Amino acid sequence: MITASAPGKCILMGEHAVVYGHPAIAIAIDIRSYCSIEPISKKLIEFQMTNYDTHLKFHDLTEMKKQMPPQFSQFSEVLGVLMEKFDIQIESISIRLYTDLWSGAGLGSSASVAVAFLCAISEFYNLNLSVEKINEYAFFMEKIVHGTPSGIDNAICSSGGALIYQNGVPERILLPKFSFLITYSGLPHDTGSILSSLRKKRDYLDGSLIEIEKITEKGIKAIKDKNFTLLGELCNLNQEILSNIGVSTSKMDEIIAISRENGAYGSKLTGAGVGGCVLTLGDISQLHKIQFILKKLGYSSKITHLDYNGGRIESK
Ligand code: MEV
Repeated sequence: MITASAPGKCILMGEHAVVYGHPAIAIAIDIRSYCSIEPISKKLIEFQMTNYDTHLKFHDLTEMKKQMPPQFSQFSEVLGVLMEKFDIQIESISIRLYTDLWSGAGLGSSASVAVAFLCAISEFYNLNLSVEKINEYAFFMEKIVHGTPSGIDNAICSSGGALIYQNGVPERILLPKFSFLITYSGLPHDTGSILSSLRKKRDYLDGSLIEIEKITEKGIKAIKDKNFTLLGELCNLNQEILSNIGVSTSKMDEIIAISRENGAYGSKLTGAGVGGCVLTLGDISQLHKIQFILKKLGYSSKITHLDYNGGRIESK
């Protein structure tokens, strides 16, 4: 049996603006998704998504493409592309997917699962896919899931580490391993519908996106100067704009206010917003204190770290 994994991600700055060609900063996080593939004796394709209690069986890829529930169609579609490109027989296999990430929460769960899946498929069929190719196929899958994503999630989940991402081009940026707090606001979001509703307000958005770009540029400099307190303050400024464009929620605002009142360097939503997670930067003892206070209010959070590894094989 082959098992592959891939990290989730956080956007430090620049979400939404990145969809329109502005830069954003993304980091891979040490919460992962997993894909295990093994051969089976029956001439079937078994597909399991453990988090959703989904266990499906198909006689062949044609049936899989026809009968796959729409929320998982990215897997059957990409298998079709790989089958044509590499002339492989997708049969007599069991595919099991699992993620430790909250789904629909701004942590890149769909991209993370896609990268883990592609790494496992590449190993199982000896496709020898490079990180760039994994990223390219993961982007194909992300477009099926989210419509018009920027490609930042698949890029960071494939490569790991930290990236500045603009116009489809990832550029590595060096960041020391650091801890931060990720808090789930309690409601999932649907990135695709948030992206399409913002796209309808494009003219009204432009000024805000330029403001976000200015903050992101300062954030890049703060990272290069290793100035985490300034980075936190810039996160706060980025959050004001995200709130103005309507992608924060009262729960997210509450988490952010509590974080700031209790000594965080800064706190903002991460990812598409309208639900999902809040990212908090601060000294580790402060983060533990904030986590404790948030827990008493019913919020789940995790102390998380930058993960330098992207998609990888765990065992074979
Ligand atoms: C998603 O992690 C970040 C967004 O900017 C969407 C995208 O870039 O595809 C909201």
